[in-house]
Amino acid sequence: MSGTPTKINIKKVEKSRIGEVDFANIQFGKKYSDHMLVAHYENGAWLQPEIVPYGDLALSPATTFIHYGQSIFEGVKAYKNPQGEPIIFRPEENWKRMNRSAHRMAMPDVPREIFVEGMKALVDLDRDWIPTSEDTALYIRPFMFATDEFIGVKPAEKFTFMIITSPSGPYYSKPVSIYVSDSYVRAFPGGIGFTKAAGNYGMSMYPTQEVRKMGYDQILWTDGFTHKKVQEIGTMNFFVVIGDKVLTPDIDHDTILAGVTRDSVITLLKEKGITVEEREIDIDEIMEANEKGLLREAFGTGTAASIAPIASLTYENKTVNLPPMETWAVANALKATLSDIRYGRVADTHGWTEKV
Ligand code: COI
Repeated sequence: MSGTPTKINIKKVEKSRIGEVDFANIQFGKKYSDHMLVAHYENGAWLQPEIVPYGDLALSPATTFIHYGQSIFEGVKAYKNPQGEPIIFRPEENWKRMNRSAHRMAMPDVPREIFVEGMKALVDLDRDWIPTSEDTALYIRPFMFATDEFIGVKPAEKFTFMIITSPSGPYYSKPVSIYVSDSYVRAFPGGIGFTKAAGNYGMSMYPTQEVRKMGYDQILWTDGFTHKKVQEIGTMNFFVVIGDKVLTPDIDHDTILAGVTRDSVITLLKEKGITVEEREIDIDEIMEANEKGLLREAFGTGTAASIAPIASLTYENKTVNLPPMETWAVANALKATLSDIRYGRVADTHGWTEKV
């Protein structure tokens, strides 16, 4: 990687828009902070990144990513600790994952100086935008897209990397009802399911719209060969508690996103002495566990959603209702521990939070 810039030019807004935000009633992803980071890649090198006032982009209608989807993103969150200092949760992990996505999508690596240090500079500048009530955070959205002015199909040579931030509340406001996919497919071995490519989300819109019409909130994706092996839920990794074990699909087949929250949850569960099995999970195993009275909890994990409880799972016209989440021993304890770490209320023994 050549041309790694170390200095970030900053152009501040003349007047903040923060007064437009109702911090007592924050939704997910509706309001954007005063500034954004922009860095361009051309002739094989990154140019000096800039932090500038948040605003619209001017792009040629022939810009490559609009046509062919050479576009990837990440999701990260910043919180304020009890001393009022901004802290970012595991940004290095998102940086590494961004570059795994970039590699698979024939895009350049984003240098750490731009991704992590640029993010810290941006969060530092817009620190007043970090909400502080429980279940809120400053959602940070790094993304990169191909900017060649060319509609031939080939890997682009010019790219733009940006970071925008948004004070956000919970992604889901209540436990979600899930339809287990018996026809649509999100990912397959050799594909891009393990990346945060824009197309992974674009392809999910129609099936999700269909299950919403049927009265469900989200899809639990299954493999394309048997529609039995569960993968991810909507935008989250999937966990299920059967008896005294926690099961989650393993990430060895290019089909599952290596979630940063997923990894944090597995680490914390193991530290609590709970057995976690990362392996293939057949939907029949979940249905049978329910019949035997062993199905205790099911939840999704993700940066945006944090830990989202599942209310019900429907597979081939059979609906399984999970026990009321107030009775859940695993997810509730996990969420409390994770929140304490994220909001800096306990010592960060894992080195997961970074001050800006
Ligand atoms: C995240 O959890 O950060 C995600 O990327 C999900 C997003 C599509 C809302």
